[in-house]
Amino acid sequence: PGGGPTAMRRILPADMVERGSCPFDPPPGLRERRGKGGVQPLRLQNGAGAWLVTGFEEARTVLSDPRFSADKVRHRDATSLQPHEVADLAREPLPAPAVAEREDGFFVFMDPPEHTRLRRLLTGQFTVRRMRALESRVTEIAVEHIEAMKAAGTEADLVPAFALPLPSLVICELLGVDYADRAEFQERTAVGLNANSTPEERAQAGAELYAFMQRLVAGKRADPADDLLSGLIHDADPPLTDAQLVDVALVLLGAGHETTANMLGLGTFALLEHPDQLAALRADPSLIDNTVEELLRYLTIIQLGVNRVTTEPVTLGGVDLPAGATVVIATPEVNRDPQHWPDPDRLDLSRARTPHLAFGHGVHQCLGQQLARIEMRIGLAELFAALPNLRLAVPAEEVPLRDEMLIFGVHSLPVTWS
Ligand code: HEM
Repeated sequence: PGGGPTAMRRILPADMVERGSCPFDPPPGLRERRGKGGVQPLRLQNGAGAWLVTGFEEARTVLSDPRFSADKVRHRDATSLQPHEVADLAREPLPAPAVAEREDGFFVFMDPPEHTRLRRLLTGQFTVRRMRALESRVTEIAVEHIEAMKAAGTEADLVPAFALPLPSLVICELLGVDYADRAEFQERTAVGLNANSTPEERAQAGAELYAFMQRLVAGKRADPADDLLSGLIHDADPPLTDAQLVDVALVLLGAGHETTANMLGLGTFALLEHPDQLAALRADPSLIDNTVEELLRYLTIIQLGVNRVTTEPVTLGGVDLPAGATVVIATPEVNRDPQHWPDPDRLDLSRARTPHLAFGHGVHQCLGQQLARIEMRIGLAELFAALPNLRLAVPAEEVPLRDEMLIFGVHSLPVTWS
């Protein structure tokens, strides 16, 4: 996954992008494919052909079978092609980009064994001890922000006041960003996620963020501390280059900020719109772990981006795919597969927990899922405990949705309390 306002409309047909009457349900164009087979042909907006996976079993196969590559750069994932490239492709295969053009540490887009080394190094840094230490910081950060909201009045936009800063500060903790530098870090990361930023502002913030990470890595080399980057510098043998370390820091930010922020924003919205479920949670706070899991399934915010490319011909769900086929996993629809969940369109906090694909599956399964769960559990529990009367400050239809983003959610969430 990863950030930025990628125009989903440039990739998928409008009815697969725009939400229907319920903001939490998959777009109508995805839902109407339900029950018509787990793998279906798809025409992308750039003219290229691809396959859409809507079945849970088929999606799990794609994510665990090495014949489906995550190296979208080398294999030219059709969702990333310009229309003229699609036309060229009809005549002859496009050349793979030179290795030098490829990123150093973007392991999200690597296959084993390249992926394995970086992934193992990273997994080694997400220790139980570090997660425990982060847990108490998550609570402090959540409480501080809720207190600030209360001190400022009885109304707020939950996105800038709570949902965005919480995961951003948690990544600061993880990477070991100094307190003095956090305002700068948050400013730069917010520009990239703001729908109103111009492409120029975004490019500038991106360049500044890159320079920020370069300084951070240099600082950790000179003066290591008890954080993930220092740990990577210490543990990697052979050592990682500065470019790799900067990329790893950017991957963690890209994968861990926008995702968690939108689960907090959209998750709150969904609970406010399901008062019976919210009342059940308020009556029995031990439901919080179930709440997190059911919100992850029900909202499945990564609407596009869990894609793979076949490296050889494969038969999937009875459909023959050629080599080089782009497979787009319709994650929101996959997590509503009626063969796996009875009454899948219902938000039901008492549902028996069944594995879902909101964090993906296989070798690329979300590295930060433990941390994401901690942030959601603590963030939502603190919010609803501190603001007993929390409600929307505008009609639900006026909440601006992130339809057009790879990662779904809300642009803002005006709330009030008393
Ligand atoms: C990978 C979802 C939070 C770090 C993934 C993938 C999904 C996902 C679906 C798999 C992508 C693929 O297979 O193509 C989510 C959701 C989150 C969340 C829904 C919030 C609720 C986080 C956090 C971090 C993180 C907090 C770290 C701080 C990563 C990384 C990968 C990843 C590094 C790539 C792993 C690899 O390629 O081996 N995430 N994520 N995520 N996630 Fe998360």
